[in-house]
Amino acid sequence: MSMTSTQVRDGFTSKFGVLAATLGSAVGLGNIWKFPYLTGENGGASFLLVYLIATLLVGLPVMITEMMLGRRGKADAVSTLIKLAPKGQAWWLVALMGVGAAFLIMSFYSEVAAWVFAYIFKGIGGTILSTDPAVTGAAFNALIKDPLQSLLWQWLVLALMGGILLMGVSRGIEAVTKKLMPLLFILLLVIGARSLTLPGAREGLIFLFSPDFSKLSAGVVLTAMGLAFFKLSIGMGCMMTYGSYFRDDQHIPATACRVMCADLFVSMLAGIAIFPAVFAFGFEPSAGPALLFITIPAVFASIPFGQVFMVLFFVLSAIAATGAMLSILEVPVSVLSERFGLSRPRATLINLLLLALIGSSCALSNSTLAGVTVAGKSFFDLFDFISSNVLMPLGGILLCLFVGWVWGFERMKEALTNGGTLHLRILKPLFFVVRYVSPLLILIVMLKGLGLF
Ligand code: PHE
Repeated sequence: MSMTSTQVRDGFTSKFGVLAATLGSAVGLGNIWKFPYLTGENGGASFLLVYLIATLLVGLPVMITEMMLGRRGKADAVSTLIKLAPKGQAWWLVALMGVGAAFLIMSFYSEVAAWVFAYIFKGIGGTILSTDPAVTGAAFNALIKDPLQSLLWQWLVLALMGGILLMGVSRGIEAVTKKLMPLLFILLLVIGARSLTLPGAREGLIFLFSPDFSKLSAGVVLTAMGLAFFKLSIGMGCMMTYGSYFRDDQHIPATACRVMCADLFVSMLAGIAIFPAVFAFGFEPSAGPALLFITIPAVFASIPFGQVFMVLFFVLSAIAATGAMLSILEVPVSVLSERFGLSRPRATLINLLLLALIGSSCALSNSTLAGVTVAGKSFFDLFDFISSNVLMPLGGILLCLFVGWVWGFERMKEALTNGGTLHLRILKPLFFVVRYVSPLLILIVMLKGLGLF
């Protein structure tokens, strides 16, 4: 209600800035933590293949759709859908669902980020560096099973995000992220090189690249698709919100393609860094969320100056996680401030306080609340499952249906060609995919994966 046409909105000032910020949202713990652990848990190469297909057939079209709607709406996600939808149609509910998803994601994401921050300090202390699975496993367990540490680190992370947002330095952080990301790539390359030269590394490569389709099930396919949504920050309004800051001459399909490729590249690097080492040291590829935290210290334990490198690795991971968290928070913060007229600091504060409350259920899910499960899942797993495997795909379906059936081809053409100035040969096939292929695919995978069909 506060959003008037005269109000000047902050926006990205350069095309490169757009790419960097969007990449900052996509690349994060999803690449270095979630991608490896899900790939390990779900059978390796066959999972990877389904994930790649989902990224191409569903992820990319939904990302383009979202960015396009955002730039058209030039507002927070809820206002954008109110503006763009015909009167009387409640498409804005999709954005509201996205706000809900943002809360669920932040609740567990901030806890994983908490482990990363904690590992910086544990790394400096030197106690976690070992090639023995028993030692690195025990160090990780000691952290997640300690309610006080889990909670305090999470609140510290939330406070840090609050600080960054309140001081209005998030653009500054993006600039830093932009400069440091290449360093993370290089470090992943170094770890990969070491990991690949360990005795027994071959088996890790076979695991990662030679598919065993007997490992696939409807549930696994849904998990792979959910990962595609999570990775590309789509289906919950994040890319729509970022799209609203895009310049009018930004080439949206090209931007989306670049983000997707770079993101896949980082995930592959992480996979190559982790799996050969997992097999070489005799870890379990299906160790679950602990995988990154038990494997990485082992790789560094077998590198000269490993401790220094490991601290650097967790610092860079923390920075990558920060970029992603700022983008998740941007969804509810922009809705509260633009739609409901709260000042940005107040909107930020409300969101973070709520998150400290809701998120603590995830922080404590390995300790105090370890016995509490809903549908057999801890809060941590439940929030992860509902956001990635239900809410984001559902958001994706609805946004595709909105563009494919309500908005229509002409509007999409106008929006993606920047008013006719760009020549895009992919428009017709893209529209076909958005109208039929993506929504149908998501729907089938969801219904099958959830056992509803
Ligand atoms: N894509 C981010 C990552 O992989 C996570 C994220 C999800 C960010 C949803 C924004 C929205 O770490």
